[in-house]
Amino acid sequence: MTKSLFLFLPFAMIANNAFATKSNIDVAMKTQNTTAPRVLVAYFSMLYGNTGDVARAIVSESGGDIYRIMVEEEYPDDDKARKKLLTQQVEQNIFPALSGPEPEIAKYDVIFIGSPVWGNHLSQPVKSFLHKYDLSNKTVIPFVSHSGGGRGHTFSDVADLCSGCTVDTDGWSSWGAGRQRGIAKWVEKKLAQHY
Ligand SMILES: Cc1cc2nc3c(=O)[nH]c(=O)nc-3n(C[C@H](O)[C@H](O)[C@H](O)COP(=O)(O)O)c2cc1C
Repeated sequence: MTKSLFLFLPFAMIANNAFATKSNIDVAMKTQNTTAPRVLVAYFSMLYGNTGDVARAIVSESGGDIYRIMVEEEYPDDDKARKKLLTQQVEQNIFPALSGPEPEIAKYDVIFIGSPVWGNHLSQPVKSFLHKYDLSNKTVIPFVSHSGGGRGHTFSDVADLCSGCTVDTDGWSSWGAGRQRGIAKWVEKKLAQHY
């Protein structure tokens, strides 16, 4: 009996060690999963600052960093000149050159991307952003502001322009800057869904 226990012990110790190692790995993985995702809220806003207002609400709920997408050729204040440039860009689907500091995309796991709705699609500067920067392996969550026409094709535009990233097409859409009631819960839900 003593002899058989003696023979069994080394195996039990090895097995126990193996279990201990596995459970350590489990704990480590759980710890990793509870680490807060690193969030960037990138947006373009022009007419009334509506999309910027939504972006700031998302930042305050997510604790993320904010990045304003800017264009090299600014949209003129003069209504007629602005309309001419916008019509040309939208109709010809021109991606305007961007300016401003380069975003440090590599630092982030989740990118909320915000745009006004232009002609039922993403605004041209946001298309430029998605075209210019490599967001592969990131989770990309769109949000848009519009003036009553709804989100149009904006969420699927993000998916079309963002190859290799995970696009959550259940984004946020608001009429102007308003209707932000519920945004805290939405942000919380999105972060829980993806991390
Ligand atoms: C060129 C252009 C096209 C627009 N097209 C639409 C549209 O298709 N549907 C809509 O509801 N609003 C449209 N709008 C209105 C804007 O989406 C809306 O005012 C938005 O909240 C503006 O956001 P911003 O203040 O961040 O620029 C358009 C505005 C512009 C300048």
